[in-house]
Amino acid sequence: MKTIKLNSGQEMPLVGLGTWRAQADEIERAVNTALQEGYRHIDTAFNYNTEEPIGRVIQKWIEEGRLKREELFITTKLPNVGNRPRDVERYLRMSLDRLQTSYVDLYLVHMPFSLMGHPDTHAPLTNEDGTIQLDVHNDIIGTWSKMETQVEEGRVRSIGLSNFNIAQIEKICLSCKIKPAVLQIEHHAYLQQPELIDRCKQLGVTVTAYSPLGSPGANQHFSTKYNYKLEEFPDILGHPIAKKLSEKYAKTPGQILLRHIVQKGIVVIPKSLNPKRIKDNIDIFNFELIEDDMQLMNKLDKGEKGRIFDFLFFKGVEKHPDYPFRQRLTVDGEKLFQL
Ligand SMILES: NC(=O)c1ccc[n+]([C@@H]2O[C@H](COP(=O)([O-])OP(=O)(O)OC[C@H]3O[C@@H](n4cnc5c(N)ncnc54)[C@H](OP(=O)(O)O)[C@@H]3O)[C@@H](O)[C@H]2O)c1
Repeated sequence: MKTIKLNSGQEMPLVGLGTWRAQADEIERAVNTALQEGYRHIDTAFNYNTEEPIGRVIQKWIEEGRLKREELFITTKLPNVGNRPRDVERYLRMSLDRLQTSYVDLYLVHMPFSLMGHPDTHAPLTNEDGTIQLDVHNDIIGTWSKMETQVEEGRVRSIGLSNFNIAQIEKICLSCKIKPAVLQIEHHAYLQQPELIDRCKQLGVTVTAYSPLGSPGANQHFSTKYNYKLEEFPDILGHPIAKKLSEKYAKTPGQILLRHIVQKGIVVIPKSLNPKRIKDNIDIFNFELIEDDMQLMNKLDKGEKGRIFDFLFFKGVEKHPDYPFRQRLTVDGEKLFQL
């Protein structure tokens, strides 16, 4: 498996298995298949509810002598309801218990804004009018300092950010002891964010692309939560350029989309529960897109109009001072709000 060296010195496999939005038994099967196919990188988060099944499979493989813990790269994330200095270690310890491991390779602050959460269920709390209870006294710098403590005390190998914008990353880089090793962002052909990627390169922060295929299986989920019309949900895999290149290189459209991203030095974490697609998604290192075809793919970028995950389903979240996507546009190009 090809890897990329992080600024922490760790090697991170360029392809990982995404695990958002699946049942425990489905995840157990998918992780088993992925490990058999050579995956050594798994992406999860406190609020995906997939840490426990992942932990069970890993533990079994280790007990059976088929895998050593140090061969595996596990990423998990601090939830937005735990996004404050005093909660960092508490939430990390819960994730470690669920994953049955004494450390994770990468711990990410899942989102820059923080929400008030239920003490037992950890679900975000809502006000009577349905808006989400924001924690506007969020202390990003203080939270990052506690993230650094987790590295120093051995519970985490590398630390990073997710869904942060350029200004927020720069703010952390200015005051940190340990630089973020990774930024995990939505990145696919329709939302390529070249400015953010370039800034990360300058800062020595490795980028991981989430939803690298445009999260096609989540269309139903998004039509409920984001009021998308199903027929308007992006179909990047069905784009004529993806199809054309698929024929040209004798690869699936999914492999073309993933290859386009890793060829730019960006890590991908496609999620699949399907054994053939799990295998296909890691089989992207035996061909190369020529420069003209890279350019064709680059031109599919729709800028902010291509963004799927704006988190506005947390009603009122755009009022949080650390809401990261202030330039979010509606699908038909009009500003949804100006802050
Ligand atoms: N940091 C964050 O805020 C954040 C947000 C979203 C996601 N993530 C992470 O990123 C991971 C990936 O993102 P995602 O799950 O949203 O979307 P994705 O990986 O872009 O797409 C997953 C969907 O594509 C299908 N699929 C997978 N491989 C395929 C292929 N080769 N050809 C055609 N279809 C294929 C899967 O269906 P089958 O199962 O049927 O193959 C699944 O429905 C997540 O699982 C999660 O770990 C992070």
